Amino acid sequence: MRTIESQLADIRSRALLRQLRHIDTPQQPRTTSDARPLINFSSNDYLGLASDPILREAAKSSIDQWGVGAGASRLVCGGLPPHAQLERDLAAFKRTDAALAFSSGYAAALGTLGALAGPEDVIILDKLSHASLIDGARLSRANIRVFPHNHLGKLESHLRWARETVPDGRIVVVTESVFSMDGDRAPVEEIVAIKNRYGALLLLDEAHATGVIGEHGRGLADKSGVASMVDLQMGTLGKALGSAGGYLCARRPIIDLLINRARSFIYSTAPLPAAASAASAALAFLQTPAGRERQETLWQRIGDFIREAPDRLLPEGSVRSAIIPIIIGDEDKATAAAQWLREKGFLVPAIRYPTVGRGSARLRITLSAAHTQDQVASLCAALSRLEL
Ligand SMILES: Cc1ncc(COP(=O)(O)O)c(C=O)c1O
Repeated sequence: MRTIESQLADIRSRALLRQLRHIDTPQQPRTTSDARPLINFSSNDYLGLASDPILREAAKSSIDQWGVGAGASRLVCGGLPPHAQLERDLAAFKRTDAALAFSSGYAAALGTLGALAGPEDVIILDKLSHASLIDGARLSRANIRVFPHNHLGKLESHLRWARETVPDGRIVVVTESVFSMDGDRAPVEEIVAIKNRYGALLLLDEAHATGVIGEHGRGLADKSGVASMVDLQMGTLGKALGSAGGYLCARRPIIDLLINRARSFIYSTAPLPAAASAASAALAFLQTPAGRERQETLWQRIGDFIREAPDRLLPEGSVRSAIIPIIIGDEDKATAAAQWLREKGFLVPAIRYPTVGRGSARLRITLSAAHTQDQVASLCAALSRLEL
């Protein structure tokens, strides 16, 4: 019989055991963990907003006015003004008719795909899509097809197959604009053109592009000039926006369908009003000169990294976002490399299967506008001494 203990032993024997670690500071570059000072290169707080006074104040005054918990699902208890405000702010930011706030990006993916597609429909995903998108597709019970990462030819052949197989069904193409573990970008213009030819919907997860790419951080679809043709713009409030929660921006009828069918929205307590208020404050900040400057600082740090990192670790032109993977392959070696960096004072996580494919374990470095040039330079100096 497979016991819990034997299952854990098996995970451990494959160098895949995860254990909780703790840091003892808010999100900021200088942190400590088990009393060891570390510079944090693991957070998705790309703009340093998670502990920024602007967001702290927005959350505090929201708590003073609205309390902490939202009480129930919005369909049961009614939403609070910060929820409605956030949805207006998101729709204006992403230039869509409407938006819906979820308690996390994971919940947004699960609820949206489950609401949009069923057994008569087809969902076509990029192979490197985030677990939340894969789980949402599975939960929908739609027919699932996967295309190799960014492979437009295979995407098109799946679309052709889907149109023939379910002539009256709904086809949903799902991808990310910036990929969470590789940091590269999807060719969104081409994907939009292809999905339009087959009358498919496109769900684009901008979790790692919002706040980072495009004017005011509106994302890659906006930067590429195709946002109005992306049917569903998804993302999280927990990364560059420094708060917590997820969102889906789309045409009003799509949002109305989600309100009626997205189970992670209907059957879950509404997000904390303070989290919604903090996210609204982040969106407002992004659209100020100081917000633009913060985004520019992030890109300066990315430029610093590209300049200073050892060439052997960084294929030419490979850095397209604030996420920089250093592919190691072997799970044990990746864990040892992360531990070595930890001993040198850097918090850089090793990412292993099943988050990435077997044998493609890696270090995942994330940069933030809150890092200083010196902090980035010191990481690069350590990386140049890293033996792989
Ligand atoms: C691409 C992508 N989509 C969705 C999510 C889920 O967002 P959240 O953390 O808000 O649940 C994440 C990360 O966590 C992600 O990287």
